[in-house]
Amino acid sequence: MTVRVPAKVNVQLAVGGVRGDGFHPLANVFLAVGLYDEVTATPADELTITCTGPGSEHVPLDRTNLAARAAVALADLHGLTPDVHLHIAKDIPVAGGMAGGSADAAGALLACDVLWGTKTPYEQLLAICADLGSDVPFSFVGGAALGVGRGEQLTPLEVGGEFHWVFAVADGGLSTPAVYGEFDRLTAGVQVPEPEASEELLAALRTGDATALAASLSNDLQAAALSLRPSLAGTLAKGVEAGALASLVSGSGPTTAFLAKDAEGAGRIAEALLASGTCVAARVAVAPAPGAVAL
Ligand code: C5P
Repeated sequence: MTVRVPAKVNVQLAVGGVRGDGFHPLANVFLAVGLYDEVTATPADELTITCTGPGSEHVPLDRTNLAARAAVALADLHGLTPDVHLHIAKDIPVAGGMAGGSADAAGALLACDVLWGTKTPYEQLLAICADLGSDVPFSFVGGAALGVGRGEQLTPLEVGGEFHWVFAVADGGLSTPAVYGEFDRLTAGVQVPEPEASEELLAALRTGDATALAASLSNDLQAAALSLRPSLAGTLAKGVEAGALASLVSGSGPTTAFLAKDAEGAGRIAEALLASGTCVAARVAVAPAPGAVAL
């Protein structure tokens, strides 16, 4: 049983001051993009994981893997033992700020639900996703959505067209908690405003207007990611030089995202980024993409 799951970019990531539970309140506008991992579930004597693809050597193969935790959570719900082999074929950058680990969890959950014939109601699957991590519900549903709370409370958003993106993959990853920690350090003593979705941005998504979307992209974690990885500023500048309508850090980074006018523009930006030597790979992808899909 194989499930395909998309990466995401945050077209807006508004971050409030840290809550008592250590999480940050967000107004998080997610857009699923056409870069995919595939998770295959097959019956086995016990829970095992294998992983292939770029960066797979950094993916844990024990029960700390979010995909394994998804299988265990679903098995627990139905009183089963999670005797399954999960194979993750990675194409989403690992620890890149594109929700690759969350995608694998969403994929494993759907793959196991189909393999085991457990037919779990949609709302219950989404509740398991939210327990696993803030970005997992969105990986499951895909498309575009506003996430509030810690990002897990979703409202689907209408998207009126296709957007062409380029993603520059950085050398190595960034830890999400470390980036939020740096955000806290940089905003210490500052009154951080309540996070709110931008009306201009939501309108740009609705009308499918890339120029308007470019003008309203924002990421409150960008300064923190740049502070931890200053070389990303050079990558952001190269993409704009090559004709990107706008550039930003994807989520907590270190992947950088470039919005192009069209498919041709995206190809040119990807070539220029790769030639600049400021990234290890440049990937083009179209958005919005569907969520977890059983193949
Ligand atoms: O929910 P998830 O496990 O993906 O979050 C990873 C880490 O990112 C959290 O432990 C926390 O440090 C940080 N985070 C946060 N506020 C959020 C989401 C994540 O501080 N809204």
